[in-house]
Amino acid sequence: MIYCNKDNVFHLQTKDTSYILRALPSGQLESMYYGKRIRNRDDFTFLYDKHECGYSNASPRSQKDTSLSLDHIALEYSAYGKGDYRLPAMDVLAADDNFTTDFLFSTATVSDYKPELHGLPSSYGESKTLTVILEDKILGAELQLFYTVFEDCNVITRAARLLNKSKNPIHIKELMSMQLDLQRGDYTMLTFDGAWIRERYKHEHKLLPGVTSFGSISGASSNRHNPFFAVKVGSCDELQGECYGFNLVYSGNHIARAEVSTHGLLRIQNGINPFEFDWLLEPDKSFDTPESVLTFSDKGLNGMSQNMHLFVKEHIVRGFWKNKERPILVNNWEATYFNFNEKKILGIAQEAKDLGAELFVLDDGWFGKRNNDKCSLGDWVVNKKKLPSGIDGLAKKINAMGLKFGLWVEPEMVSPDSDLYRAHPNWAIKTDTYEPTQGRNQLVLDLTNPDVVEYIINAMTDVFRYGHIEYIKWDYNRQLSDVFSHRKDARSGEFFHRFILGLYEIWGALTEKFPEILFESCSSGGNRFDLGSFCYLPQCWTSDDTDPLERIYIQSGTSYGYPQSVMTMHVACTPSFACLRQSGIEHRFNVSAFGLLGYELDVTTLSKFDKAAVKKQIEFYKQHRRLLQFGEFSRIGDFFTDNICKWQITSPDKSESMMGYFINRTIPNWGNDVIRFTDLDAEKDYDISTRVQLFSIRNIGEIINTPLPKKIDLEESKLYDFLAETVKLRCEKENYTIGGDALMASGFKPHQPFVLSGYKPGVSRILLDTDSRMYYLKEKSE
Ligand code: DGJ
Repeated sequence: MIYCNKDNVFHLQTKDTSYILRALPSGQLESMYYGKRIRNRDDFTFLYDKHECGYSNASPRSQKDTSLSLDHIALEYSAYGKGDYRLPAMDVLAADDNFTTDFLFSTATVSDYKPELHGLPSSYGESKTLTVILEDKILGAELQLFYTVFEDCNVITRAARLLNKSKNPIHIKELMSMQLDLQRGDYTMLTFDGAWIRERYKHEHKLLPGVTSFGSISGASSNRHNPFFAVKVGSCDELQGECYGFNLVYSGNHIARAEVSTHGLLRIQNGINPFEFDWLLEPDKSFDTPESVLTFSDKGLNGMSQNMHLFVKEHIVRGFWKNKERPILVNNWEATYFNFNEKKILGIAQEAKDLGAELFVLDDGWFGKRNNDKCSLGDWVVNKKKLPSGIDGLAKKINAMGLKFGLWVEPEMVSPDSDLYRAHPNWAIKTDTYEPTQGRNQLVLDLTNPDVVEYIINAMTDVFRYGHIEYIKWDYNRQLSDVFSHRKDARSGEFFHRFILGLYEIWGALTEKFPEILFESCSSGGNRFDLGSFCYLPQCWTSDDTDPLERIYIQSGTSYGYPQSVMTMHVACTPSFACLRQSGIEHRFNVSAFGLLGYELDVTTLSKFDKAAVKKQIEFYKQHRRLLQFGEFSRIGDFFTDNICKWQITSPDKSESMMGYFINRTIPNWGNDVIRFTDLDAEKDYDISTRVQLFSIRNIGEIINTPLPKKIDLEESKLYDFLAETVKLRCEKENYTIGGDALMASGFKPHQPFVLSGYKPGVSRILLDTDSRMYYLKEKSE
């Protein structure tokens, strides 16, 4: 709901939040309130800024009202030059070399129509939009601020459009997507930072006077600093308290800033990173910022995350796969790398089918002469030595097994050793003067060049028609460097943004041509895990790190801003390729089950024991797929600081729920544990059960010998190896019927954790270092 009240006060209301702003009599826009929903009323003067006495040493905007200092007031969008000394949201340079601007309120309208942002993806669905127009008559420009209200998920999105109405060009040096000034408070910013195979770790920054800022200048939204961030108030934690969440619908260089001013206000901004940004806005042209996403929750960080999750599920992801359950896949990358042939691939696919998988994905190495990562990107011709019957023949054989077939591509790249590069060296991003820096032995194609965009669309159209392909993994394995375009009309200050506009054109064209292909974005894992890509490609390979302990950090961090339905999670081999850590097959599954499940290991070489476990895992996942992919997710505890954390995923009608219980380091002799749930229906009764998890006798070492009259040699004995493969110990069972009220208040006490002196098979709760359980709750039927 959007109310336009007297005195140009605008009240935007979602299900649980209110956002209030007004046009000051002097023309600037004041931020009055953003937080828990309040009733609309005629009179909001109690929230107006009070400045009757004025401030010495301030620079009042005008001599007409010397008490109004823009430096002291919460503003919706600020510029430089009229006395606000915090970082502005806009920085433009007029043709007369002037960088002072003064945009003042002109009109405001409310519509059901959401303005399209030129060349950029954005959210969609039932909403209302407030458009506020401000004008700077001296500059000759109009600033349109869009506020779109999504009531259902407590999200307000914002974007800005600058229109040049003058006769001269204007340089845009910076144009943020939004600015939000909040009142004095105790704020902590949460950012999600990392690197390749260590993506989106949570970091907390206490906000003190000055600027806290993060962003990316690598050309992509990046694995260094994800565009999503949160700001919590005071003692807010996962389950209680007030907090805000922010994101950006953009896949390129971005920035976010939180500035606590000398007068105690908190200014938050996000948008395109101003690094080397200089957009020439010709007369009568406009420039649109990417869309910024804002939410507020008074139900702790989980409330904030659930708002964001619903927003992504309902208003970002679109098309054929939007609400469809995703297939369980097996991917050959970590099984074979580049070293495969059709026989090996068919062997993996057949085993995958026998285990219950539904989709086989052929990864890198199927084209050109690509037997390593030093060549052939750009030459999308099937390698007939490896695959004599081509993609078509292979897809047919895999389909005949009853599996869907998917394929890997990396279309934005070119290897210097490729026919494409030899034919079009200037299609690669590189300067004329420096030797181009390569990343993974490859260069990036210049997507600011329309010829390149057209080439990629055509080349991929051909590839996607090579056979019956139902899934595409779209990879992107390096950062930009040596940024320069050989296009005639190129301007370097526009490069980074035009690169992303080119990418969106490609994704737009291909997803329109192939609406039923399931696209998974990937960029060495999660280097482009952002809302811009989710507008086209509905899921993303979360990280190249498949070690389950690392994945708990990565998936927990990612879950603050993104739902399970966009995160792909694969069970891989042990020790992990990323960090050589050992882990059990059941634990790897438990971590991968809270999202889009896959297996990324050589399933043909799995032990008998692991095969039996995997078969059961896939059966279990199929039974609960809807819940695990599309349920409402919560975190209980914080793995970044605690030894134990829990994930819980609950159906929207609260009739069922799944908990993942994860322990980092086992604790000897630690007494009783209590497991509490959240998000249930207090009135309902639930049957609780433990997912049956298999243990090998290898997990209990010499204990196996205690009851036996003759000891088995654990080092050398064939008998021991045989027993280890065939004897399947089962984990303890918890079988209770408990009310939702009790599960959320008292919780329940599971079986006693294993202690040396009293091991009881099937009863003792064995939790190894880096281990887990899954508990399933089902509403008790009458
Ligand atoms: C990086 C991806 O993240 C991997 O899963 C794999 O597809 C390789 N690229 C292939 O080169």
